[in-house]
Amino acid sequence: MKRDAFESWSRESLAAVEQALGRWVPADAPAGLGEAMRYGVLDGGKRLRPLLVLAAAEASEAADQEAALRAACSVELIHAYSLIHDDMPCMDDDVLRRGKPTVHVRYGEAMAMLAGDAMQALAFEVLTPPGDAVAPGLQARLCALLARAAGGDGMAGGQAIDLASVGRSLDEPALSDMHRRKTGALLQASVMMGAACGTTDARAWAALADYGAAIGLAFQVVDDILDATQASGTLGKTAGKDADHNKPTYVTVLGLDAAQRHAEALRNQAQAALAGSGLAHAARLSVLADKVVERES
Ligand code: IPE
Ligand code: IPE
Ligand code: MG
Ligand code: MG
Ligand code: MG
Repeated sequence: MKRDAFESWSRESLAAVEQALGRWVPADAPAGLGEAMRYGVLDGGKRLRPLLVLAAAEASEAADQEAALRAACSVELIHAYSLIHDDMPCMDDDVLRRGKPTVHVRYGEAMAMLAGDAMQALAFEVLTPPGDAVAPGLQARLCALLARAAGGDGMAGGQAIDLASVGRSLDEPALSDMHRRKTGALLQASVMMGAACGTTDARAWAALADYGAAIGLAFQVVDDILDATQASGTLGKTAGKDADHNKPTYVTVLGLDAAQRHAEALRNQAQAALAGSGLAHAARLSVLADKVVERES
């Protein structure tokens, strides 16, 4: 697929996501909570996860567009909540996110905690609209995929390992396990939720799971590399903080060159999975895999 065709699809898709989030994240949640939630999720971030949902929906047959838009927003809500909590002093203690002061810096720690809590719940509200906008069976399936990726076995579990690993040297399998949970699970779930909005055969479903696992891990390997190589201004978040906080990363465990080669190998795995999927409309997913590895922020 030509990059400009991809970029115009991406622009249109992200405009729809932005508009939907603007509608669904309540400005009027009490006592300033709505303002903190909106600050944490609107107008920022690369929105990679929503794009994965929508690209996977388009790769599957006859996808339910309403469900796909809801799934895209729900994953971004979980992701943005995880960033708000990740930045708090009890975790990574960061002051800059998406080019702005972090939520706890702007609104205080208690409000940051509550904004994250409320965004997690909102993600599931968005997936379960009243009436018949999304078929009940699909609602349940999307909730199950998202809950498992976000919870103790997935993102939250990975974050727990991350905190327990400060100052320790992990071997590569342990590091990969942590990264697959804390970051990979939600990226893979984005792909599977998009695919669940339409119809795929067993071969395509398994291929998409492999694709999602590969780009999910690649994403955090590249995040580790960028933390060590880019400036804060480019990243929109504080650079160099993994080393400052003594975190084991792909850069500390493998070294910069081997980490880069590992990310490339994962990109190739993702592309091979797509090529063997039998899906006719997987070109957007292919471009997204390239972007995960080629990105500079
Ligand atoms: C940052 O994610 C945190 C990780 C899971 C590595 P992103 O790099 O996707 O952050 P945004 O959404 O673009 O801000
Ligand atoms: C965060 O990983 C993963 C999450 C679940 C939020 P990092 O701590 O490396 O993310 P950044 O670098 O702060 O964005
Ligand atoms: Mg962290
Ligand atoms: Mg962090
Ligand atoms: Mg990082």
